Amino acid sequence: MDILEKLSLAGLVPIIKVDDASDAVPLCKALAKGGLPVAEITFRTAAAPEAIRLVRENLPECMLGAGTVLSVEQAKQAVASGAGYILSPGFNPKVVAWCVENNVPVIPGCSCPSDIEAALEFGLRLVKIFPAESLGGVKFLKALSGPYVNMSFAPTGGLNESNMLDYLALPKVKCVGGSWMVPSDAIKNKDWDKITEMSQRAVKLMLGLELRHVGINSESAEDALKGAALMSKLTGLPIKDGTSAAFVGTEYEFCKSKKPGKNGHIAVATNCISRAVWHLEQMGFAFDEPMYNAEGKFNAIYLKDEICGFAVHLLQK
Ligand code: 3PG
Repeated sequence: MDILEKLSLAGLVPIIKVDDASDAVPLCKALAKGGLPVAEITFRTAAAPEAIRLVRENLPECMLGAGTVLSVEQAKQAVASGAGYILSPGFNPKVVAWCVENNVPVIPGCSCPSDIEAALEFGLRLVKIFPAESLGGVKFLKALSGPYVNMSFAPTGGLNESNMLDYLALPKVKCVGGSWMVPSDAIKNKDWDKITEMSQRAVKLMLGLELRHVGINSESAEDALKGAALMSKLTGLPIKDGTSAAFVGTEYEFCKSKKPGKNGHIAVATNCISRAVWHLEQMGFAFDEPMYNAEGKFNAIYLKDEICGFAVHLLQK
């Protein structure tokens, strides 16, 4: 899997500015603890190359990129220090050409159709859209998505907890970036717990994991229908009888034969199933094989292990 695919599974790229290079390792550790082993360390300060070197050396698993790369010189310095990819606020053809020639993944900033076409000329398939909110936000990105079918976007600039889901809901948005989970006062005060908390919150919001239904195992179709009738009486919800199960409302699934799970199963819905799997694997969960819907889309997957006798599966919202 290449770095651009990995970034899209991570979904969120924290954009970092450090004045003191020695802050970079505890900062990136705090992000990883919060579920984001990802960092764009920007060349907005002279500390950037050393900060990148330290993170590369101490946290090899961090998906580490260099941001605000404004010249070929800086791109060379970033790569020599250990950056795995290069980002810039604008489209600098010299920087992009150098990266392409040297097989360094590059995500240049684009702010108009001409920039995107310049990126297409270089064979790029992911560009940063900066400054996304000021350019018109989601509406602007929707307009760009029409003509550029082969281009994906990583919007940054003005994104935060209140608008990131609107961006991530667009099919062409592969990840979003921002500095909101790495506030400068927290870095200044070395408040690494705050950074862990902010990144955890951002990941939680992005995945949007929530209970969708509970599956209850029965010995027979008759038992399942008996259970469904009682639950319908209790809740006032209608019964929808199917081949393998009877649903009461959308919340209670009475399985007519034994499905996975000693007692039954729990379905947890998520905004993006592939991202949820990636993040949960980072936390140590293991999964069975993905399941696909009639259109061939990955839409469900079971955890390998049960929780208190219940199988758990994720479901695409
Ligand atoms: C960037 O480099 O993309 C921006 O500085 C990030 O913007 P933000 O600080 O508004 O998140």
